[in-house]
Amino acid sequence: MSAMIIDGKAFAETVREWVAEQVAALPNHGQPGLAVVLVGEDPASQVYVRSKSKMTAEVGMKSIEHKLAQNTSEVDLLKLIDALNKNDTIHGILVQLPLPGHLNEDLVINAISPAKDVDGFHISNVGLLGTGQKSKVPCTPLGCLMMLREHLGSLSGLNAVVIGRSNIVGKPMAQLLLKDNCTVTIAHSKTKNIKEVVRGADIVVAAVGRPEMVTGDWIKPGATVIDVGINRVDAPEKGESKTRLVGDCHFDSCAEVAGAITPVPGGVGPMTIACLLVNTLNAFCDRNGLPRPVDLAV
Ligand code: GUN
Repeated sequence: MSAMIIDGKAFAETVREWVAEQVAALPNHGQPGLAVVLVGEDPASQVYVRSKSKMTAEVGMKSIEHKLAQNTSEVDLLKLIDALNKNDTIHGILVQLPLPGHLNEDLVINAISPAKDVDGFHISNVGLLGTGQKSKVPCTPLGCLMMLREHLGSLSGLNAVVIGRSNIVGKPMAQLLLKDNCTVTIAHSKTKNIKEVVRGADIVVAAVGRPEMVTGDWIKPGATVIDVGINRVDAPEKGESKTRLVGDCHFDSCAEVAGAITPVPGGVGPMTIACLLVNTLNAFCDRNGLPRPVDLAV
């Protein structure tokens, strides 16, 4: 293995400590509040929501969790969002995705006040980001950008390939890289010669949700690889019915070729939550007419 490991866990800890210091120093003992809404019992979502709530409380913010039954109606969910929009102690609202199939995700997300949309998924935040204006930025791509800037410094002029075109990661990631003056390609399941496309990249962001799809022969020597995938796969070598987490990149072969790579777990995942806390702090400051303690220029 030759690649440097980009330690997202350690970086996220530093960011969270910094957020905690900012919260402690807020004037008049103001307290940012984050509401996390989970509908149903998807096991992975339950784990993410628990971590988000726990870490929110740990940095001194108010954290509330709303756990709703799988068969919650759209009307009831929209009523809850309306109440949270009107609640002055809540500055950020996150509805964990995916929602159960009977709920219209676009409708639900767009019911969140754009000022409280700490996920950056509301159509007006998406539009602001796409037109280069100040917006709320989705947490996972923001975490990836922070790691890239930390590792590479300026990204200007670099070739970046984002694999995956989701609204949560792929599309906003491409917008952020474009804003940092990369030459950006979005590759996806219909891309022809995807291996060759990826091999032209100085920066690879893999966000497809396909375990270990990207192998070392896809990677340009020295490239920086950000692996967003978190896939649970069988691990018979660990014993019967055991599983392990892997990314969208085959770690060992990619690490042979890349200049730097994020591990799974311990790479992008922790940064997503740290960025959620940054977004909540910024939403609180915007609401109270305070300068944002961090201006990431995104
Ligand atoms: N599901 C997977 N990632 C995310 C995220 O960043 N925010 C929300 N709300 N749901 C998700």
